[in-house]
Order: sequence, then C-alpha cells, then structure tokens
Amino acid sequence: MKVPFTWKPTGWYMIGWSPEFPTGQARPLRYFGEDLVAYRDDHGDLHVLQAHCRHLGAHLGHGGKVNGDCIECPFHGWGWGPDGRNRYIPYQDRPNRAAQLRVWPVREQYDCVFLWHHPDGEPPRWEMPDIFTSFPQFDTDPANYYSPYPEFSRRAEREPVHPQIVAENGPDSVHFQYVHRATVRPVVLDWRIVDREWRFLTGWPDARSDDPDKMALRIHSHMFGLGGAISAFEGSSNHRLIFAVTPVDDTCSNMFYSIWWPRVPGDDGDVPPDDVRARVEKEFLISVWDDLDIWRYQEYIEHPTHATVDARAYVELRRWATQFYEVPPTGDAATAR
Ligand code: FES
Ligand SMILES: [Fe+2]
Repeated sequence: MKVPFTWKPTGWYMIGWSPEFPTGQARPLRYFGEDLVAYRDDHGDLHVLQAHCRHLGAHLGHGGKVNGDCIECPFHGWGWGPDGRNRYIPYQDRPNRAAQLRVWPVREQYDCVFLWHHPDGEPPRWEMPDIFTSFPQFDTDPANYYSPYPEFSRRAEREPVHPQIVAENGPDSVHFQYVHRATVRPVVLDWRIVDREWRFLTGWPDARSDDPDKMALRIHSHMFGLGGAISAFEGSSNHRLIFAVTPVDDTCSNMFYSIWWPRVPGDDGDVPPDDVRARVEKEFLISVWDDLDIWRYQEYIEHPTHATVDARAYVELRRWATQFYEVPPTGDAATAR
C-alpha cells in the first residue's frame, strides 16, 4: 500500500504476548525495517535490542544464549547487557566499552508486550496507557477477566496495511453495517483528543426501541497513537479488547487482537469454559479480520470526498495522526501523491 507518510511513526507498538517470550530464551524479531533480538533474562525481565552483534554482525536472535541479564552472541561469545553495552569478551580481560547495541524500550501489560519506536532511537516521550485503568468506570481488576492468551488472541502477519488505515476505522461508523454485517447503523457519539490519544465513543442503537438515542451497546475506545486502540464494551457484555498494528517494514504490518472477557461469577479457572469460548469465537474472533479484505486492496486517498456524517472526524483524525510522523516517507511511498 502506497501512503504519503512514513511507515516509521513514533509511539508504542505491540509485538506479541508475554508467554511467547519464555525466561532464558532469545528470539528474532523484525519491526520498522530493523532486525531485533528479544530475550527474557534469567530474572524474568524482557529486553529488545538491535539484533546484529557489534563484533562481526552475527544475529543474536538466532542461537544467542541468555546469561544472567545478558544476551551472549552465538559466534564468539561476547555478552551484551540490557543497556546494549558490551559486558564481556570471554577470551580477553575486559569488554569493549565503546561497543553498544541500540536498546528498544519494552513494556508488558496484562500479557501484552509493547515496544517503543522512535525513528532516531529517542527514549519514550509518553507511557503506554494502562489497558485496565484507562476505563475506571468498569471493573479494573484483571483477575475478574479470563486471561486473553492464547484462547482469546489472534494475530495476522505481514499484511500490506499501514497503521493509519486501521486508525481511520475509528471515525468510520458506517462501515460496521457493510463490513461487519451489523444489523443496525452504529453512530459516533463522541470523540476527543486527550494528550496523545484519540478517544471515541461508538453507540449501537437499540433496534427494539423507538428512541433513536437509546443505545444497546456503547464502545469506549482510546487510540494510543497509531499503534492501535484499547476498548471497553458497555452492553450485554462488559469485555475489553485491544487491536494493535505494528509496521514490519515499509510495506507491511503485523496485527494483534486480544479480548479480556469477564469471568463467569465463581469461576477462577485459567481456561474459559466452552460456552464462553464458543460465544466469543462466534461474536468476536471470527469477524476480527473482516476489515482486512478491504484494507489489503485499498488505495489511500489523500483528499477523499466525504459524506457529511464522516467529514469532520476524519479530517481531525488525520490532523491528529501527523504528530506521530517525524520523518518523511521513503521509497515508493514518497512518490504516492
Ligand atoms: S559476532 Fe558476535 S561475538 Fe563475534
Ligand atoms: Fe472495522
């Protein structure tokens, strides 16, 4: 997909779920056109570093070993600390203090893993909002929800979709009827910008009521930059979810989706019961990729002809998004106008 902005926007981006990064193991990742290594050290802390060893360039994610809080290169055994610095060279008495790998800040929240990206490697300018305390009007105790991973989580890899395309779903209430086969036409009840976030409230009119203002469902959503949105549902179920998009390079993104479903009262098991799984599967997990069939083949229109209902929110959302673009587009994208 050609877009007139960079695939390297600043912000927090999801890269997977905590159980995918077991203690004592390293694995390769690729995001924002960079090779990365993720490793969970022997104390349980997760780190992401530039992948290629500063000695002779071996990839630390392919055969690198965890040693204490260091990642040890599979080629000649040099050890690198969580600060990216060379900690030891096994066959000489001191490390190379000048050698350093770029460090990518990581946060873990309720089993979701987030990476901070800034195109020049600058440290986080804001924190990833808390998925639970962001919606204090609902139950904020994660123990009262089933763990989202693995049953209620899904991913899609290397899809030709820029994060902004996904963000633009926010103000687009009409597409629910066409893409997601909603039986009513949802309405955007409110939207506002709070600090870095785009917050919006979508309502699903109650088909059984004559009052068009009566809603059967309200979805409270906060976009945490262009990396995705966290949402809380208010209706027949009060679950939470995250939909996240992370650029792999200048052509495609990985996507992550997780649902926190409220526990059946009295059930403290780790695995949701079959009837809950069947319901979530049918109502939410099957349809999560509906939009992809549009996004994969969509062309980015820089000056759309809006219907009246969309116009203002779309224009404002696009303006809001520009704050995350600190570098110009590259390659093909640069010529997409
Ligand atoms: S390339 Fe990593 S120690 Fe030599
Ligand atoms: Fe959608």
